[in-house]
Amino acid sequence: MKASHFALAASLLFAAGCGNRAVDERIALLGDEDPNVPVGEFHRPGQPCLLCHGEYLQETPVMTVGGTVYAFPVGPNETPLPVKGVKVIMTDSFGETFSVGTNCAGNFFVREDQWKPAFPLRAELEYPVPGAEGSTKRVVMSTRISRDGSCAGCHAGPPNQGSPGWVTCAETQIDPPFPPQEASCPGAKK
Ligand code: HEC
Ligand code: HEC
Repeated sequence: MKASHFALAASLLFAAGCGNRAVDERIALLGDEDPNVPVGEFHRPGQPCLLCHGEYLQETPVMTVGGTVYAFPVGPNETPLPVKGVKVIMTDSFGETFSVGTNCAGNFFVREDQWKPAFPLRAELEYPVPGAEGSTKRVVMSTRISRDGSCAGCHAGPPNQGSPGWVTCAETQIDPPFPPQEASCPGAKK
């Protein structure tokens, strides 16, 4: 390798280690914190948690998986209804399973010190069926998640040709309906 090529390769490595412009831009596009929501488990629903809580920025807590579960898809200018108490069940390539529940913002996450799965991952949901105490329904993602621990890396916004859309329990509102978000939940519509 010529010395000039070596210098170029070294500078590219350096750039990758210290800042990735494409990732920085994706993070900037997420915008500022919602002033009505404290920074913590309820914040930034629907966003790709690991852009900030992953290996790159390593905001505390560092996560291996994180996302938000909604009831059913809505139009492009509407906010989908988050669902609390959904069990998110993940199985890694060794067959090891880890489950975690969603909070009132629909958010869930797995801290790196709780579970460090070997990708690809299988994901499924068990959501509480509205109006049927103790009864749950299962929704399975048929393909595998190859390496992105942020569900919203793919599941963002309304479904369209390029995206499966938000992670949702059902395809439309059901009967009896999914309950409204708890008014006491940080960020809930008042
Ligand atoms: C744009 C960057 C960004 C995104 C996206 C993001 N967070 Fe955070 N989060 C932060 C920062 C910054 C903190 C504060 C870290 C600290 O206190 O050192 C934080 C803190 C937290 C905390 C810790 C609160 C505490 O008291 O220790 C939790 C839990 C959390 N976020 C969950 C999530 C979840 C779940 C998602 C995805 C739905 C998410 N975050 C998306 C930047 C982000
Ligand atoms: C690499 C992109 C990608 C990531 C990351 C991803 N998904 Fe998916 N997901 C898809 C695609 C594409 C589909 C539709 C096809 C299928 O079912 O596999 C889907 C479907 C699903 C379904 C089934 C939806 C239905 O109505 O049948 C569930 C549930 C789901 N995903 C949950 C999750 C969860 C939870 C996460 C995060 C832990 C996640 N997904 C991360 C791409 C992704």
